[in-house]
Amino acid sequence: MARVVSMVHSSLFYRNSLFQHRNGFKCFTFSIPFSTATASSLPATKKWRQPAASVVELGGVKIAKDDVVRDDPTNNVPDTIFSKLGMQLHRRDQHPLGILKNAIYEYFDTNYQNKFDKFDDLCPIVSVQQNFDDVLVPADHVSRSYNDTYYVDSQTVLRCHTSAHQAELLRKGHTNFLVTGDVYRRDSIDSTHYPVFHQMEGVRVFSPVDWEASGIDATSYAAEDLKKCLEGLARHLFGAVEMRWVDTYFPFTDPSYELEIYFQEKWMEVLGCGVMEQEILRTSNRPNNVAWAFGLGLERLAMVLFDIPDIRLFWSTDMRFTSQFSKGELGIKFKPFSKYPPCFKDMSFWINESFTENNLCEVVRDVAGDLVEEVQLIDNFTNKKGMTSHCYRIAYRSMERSLTDEEINELQFNVREQAEKKLNVVLR
Ligand code: DAH
Repeated sequence: MARVVSMVHSSLFYRNSLFQHRNGFKCFTFSIPFSTATASSLPATKKWRQPAASVVELGGVKIAKDDVVRDDPTNNVPDTIFSKLGMQLHRRDQHPLGILKNAIYEYFDTNYQNKFDKFDDLCPIVSVQQNFDDVLVPADHVSRSYNDTYYVDSQTVLRCHTSAHQAELLRKGHTNFLVTGDVYRRDSIDSTHYPVFHQMEGVRVFSPVDWEASGIDATSYAAEDLKKCLEGLARHLFGAVEMRWVDTYFPFTDPSYELEIYFQEKWMEVLGCGVMEQEILRTSNRPNNVAWAFGLGLERLAMVLFDIPDIRLFWSTDMRFTSQFSKGELGIKFKPFSKYPPCFKDMSFWINESFTENNLCEVVRDVAGDLVEEVQLIDNFTNKKGMTSHCYRIAYRSMERSLTDEEINELQFNVREQAEKKLNVVLR
């Protein structure tokens, strides 16, 4: 998340997990009270709305738009995000994300005799407790900020990772499980970042009988089993690739690792994992067990496995995209149907203290939807009076058709107007 804005296309797989930082190292802190942060960064002006279905069904529960999108300082969910709830791309067997999910299922079913319980329809609206507290995310962690997470109200969020379901499933008695779902994060805009993406979480719990016979301690036993399992999974998906384990930090695991594979001449991070913090097991009524857990991003892997060049394509309903994939076929390479020209527009403005790039990107997405390909900071300076100016370059490009000048000018006009209004920046 703390990416350098200028690392764009070359940074295809650069993104590190939001949770790898003890509390994050963005250039500003989030101790501002929730309501003040909202009021200053997104003033309570009437939100610009685009028509969307007003009720969705999530995990068997009907959710009305008004429950999720409100003009209220504790809410920062835009209409465009509401319209993604319930799409569940990972449940479509012919969609690259569904094909990948099923390939991972197949690995677990074959190697663990169907022992893993599978969940792919859990409601993405979860409590702050589930999303953060239950998995020990520190109170001052950057991921909890209004700038990074979509809040429905002060105690409810759109889950920003599938780890939000770990504790609840452990409490219900599940000891081997996979959770797949759509996750939501406020973020910058480029070809690998989209505010909705998909993750899969895996958890395996061990009992004393499992490790006692092995002669090694419980943590080492779990870590060894975890590595063996995930190396097998990587081979199942990518073939005979070179792999390496990198030590890292997550609030929910200790020790924590990242698995990297050498693929297409680069080391690429495949997933994050580790031995579950004992505290999570203790509070889930399993004090005498140890467990491992992992989390992986489906888009990141699918982009590589299917050669998909832009994350927006996963949402395309264009037959030229959807018809290229078939159930059960992981090896298919996407053939771009055409590359339409991008159009670049720059905008410069004086920022204020509460300005963030994520807020700007939210404004741009609100106006341009999937027609925006990238928002990049190209100039940044502070004058003698201490005023800071940013210049952003916005790339507009449709995945499906050519855009007209007129259309782009109108988008840019609206972006400028909304940025001024919602972010209180001063256009130059
Ligand atoms: N929740 C992490 C993320 O979204 C991914 C993750 C890392 C999940 C390690 C895990 C884990 O279960 O053990 O970045």
